[in-house]
Amino acid sequence: MCGIVGYVGKQDAWPIIYEGLKRLEYRGYDSAGIAIVDAQGDIQVRKTVGKVSGLDEAATTGHPQGSVGLGHTRWATHGRPSHDNAHPHIDCQQRIAVVHNGIVENYLELKQWLTGAGHVFYSETDTEVLTHLVEEGMEQGLSFQDAFRSMGGMVKGSQAISAVLQGEDSEICALRLGHAGGIVVAQADGQAIIGSDLPALLPLLQAESNTGQVGFLETGEMVVVTLDGVEYQDLDGNPIVKQPRLVTQEEVLVDKGGYQHFMLKEIMEQPQAVASAMRERINFDTRRVDLPDFPLSTEEIAKLDRVMLIGCGTSLNAAQVGRHLVERYSGLPAEAESASEFRYRDPFIGPNTLVVSIGQSGETADTVAAMQMVKDKGGKLITICNSEGSQASRIADGSFYMRSGIEIGVASTKTFVASLTILNLLAIYLGQSRGTLEPAKFQELVDGLAQLPRLMGELIADSSVYQQMAQEYATFDNFLFLGRGMNSPIASEGALKLKEISYIHAEGYPAGEMKHGPIALIDSAMAIVALAPKDTLYDKVANNIREVKARDGRVLAVLTEGDTQLAADVDHVLYIPEAPEHIIPLLTTVPLQMLAYHIALLRDRDVDQPRNLAKSVTVE
Ligand code: AGP
Repeated sequence: MCGIVGYVGKQDAWPIIYEGLKRLEYRGYDSAGIAIVDAQGDIQVRKTVGKVSGLDEAATTGHPQGSVGLGHTRWATHGRPSHDNAHPHIDCQQRIAVVHNGIVENYLELKQWLTGAGHVFYSETDTEVLTHLVEEGMEQGLSFQDAFRSMGGMVKGSQAISAVLQGEDSEICALRLGHAGGIVVAQADGQAIIGSDLPALLPLLQAESNTGQVGFLETGEMVVVTLDGVEYQDLDGNPIVKQPRLVTQEEVLVDKGGYQHFMLKEIMEQPQAVASAMRERINFDTRRVDLPDFPLSTEEIAKLDRVMLIGCGTSLNAAQVGRHLVERYSGLPAEAESASEFRYRDPFIGPNTLVVSIGQSGETADTVAAMQMVKDKGGKLITICNSEGSQASRIADGSFYMRSGIEIGVASTKTFVASLTILNLLAIYLGQSRGTLEPAKFQELVDGLAQLPRLMGELIADSSVYQQMAQEYATFDNFLFLGRGMNSPIASEGALKLKEISYIHAEGYPAGEMKHGPIALIDSAMAIVALAPKDTLYDKVANNIREVKARDGRVLAVLTEGDTQLAADVDHVLYIPEAPEHIIPLLTTVPLQMLAYHIALLRDRDVDQPRNLAKSVTVE
């Protein structure tokens, strides 16, 4: 959602905070601001509407000098992106600056009370009440730390909050409430950085390896950072001994690697992403899936009566593919649902229900809340996620990490194919354990998975076909993506990618449903992207494509190499290599990602940071 960076040390704080905010920009980028405590101990605030780079202009006469400061990059929830609504928010007496990630659910009630007590508000944000609450506490005689802690006890909702106090011995406090906002802390050589995520800490990690010891705040914990060091406390002020965790270079590095956009780099990393997702989870001698960390015993797996897969956005599309795989290979009834719906419908969860949550970030508010509900109802819970130590991985009984490395492009790509790879492993593992898959069958499936890195590599070897297709279709304003079976959610994913980064209206639809309504939309102005690889539903989709062609629709089909017959009936073709059915959805995904990327380029869109979006949606 939003990104927070704070620095206390001896260096010029502005460039450290500025660079940290740029590295966290994937979390939100509609406005940004930095507060620096200057040499006189006064707080100097600079803000900009739009991206962090706008702060350069806000500091044209030279940025404020000081070695303590706090910055923020925002994804608006309360109040439109504007100068006044940008963080940091300062109190009436300009003694305190506050930044915030999450939602203060009781802000109206607090605002009313604070206004009655004489506080004057200048923004439309929920965050500003936090500033005034700390100010009010200090006016009542509390120290800065105690006033900050007391503010933490008064607000409702899930969030991360940080504040800096003016003065020569300035200090920064940060706390975490609920699941929405993480805070990570690094210290070295008499300096400390706090941030919403690891890339903000880069200046304090080891120069050669970019690794280091990092403290992660748990919910209900607070950290106080001064020149004397870092102190962790609970919300009653009791000190906490925190075991730092060693973070790896992969978790921290943010680099385009020579590509024009992170999204393209991440698409190109997909062969490695699927290989990493399989690493040490397949025994290639026995040709079995081997998941020693699976949190259920064989007896518990045998007793399972149902599997529920949940996620949001791209992760929901992965869940929909997973439903097919689990049902097909484990013999268990499986359903998929968006976490945002699931969490509010009081679903039946019994002790033998296995819930699988999927999420790149492991921090999506709806997914985390749905997981908590499953836990409270006594269901078995595993997560497939990319971020180690995320909320999802802490709540789940077991975590299967994607190991895709950090994904910066707001549009998920490599983590989607990594999810699909792990869902394949999971479905096969359940089938092996429950005896619903004969050895010959699971060995055949494992052999198929082993081909994935090579086949994905073939798909991305030549971008020119996708560029050419983007030229053909970039001017269309409406797209219908069609697919059946496991390719129906892939059609939805293709439409989502196009919508997100090119702002073109696109719908993903089960091809067999088209004749029940959407067919009315078809004319020569409607672009149809039809997924018709050689699988069990091929003939059915081929018929649906012919229904479209009979109504003047323009069809770009994703077909299996060698399919000249259907190719002759459509306008354009993108090919995938011949492959076994369970890995086809991973392959059909790639041309759709590439098409969306190149159309977005032709439309001159901000591919990595599309408007209105944020990488992790940590609010409802
Ligand atoms: C994907 O391209 C989107 N940015 C979005 O739909 C995303 O998948 C969704 O917000 C869920 O995020 P998660 O996987 O981190 O839970």
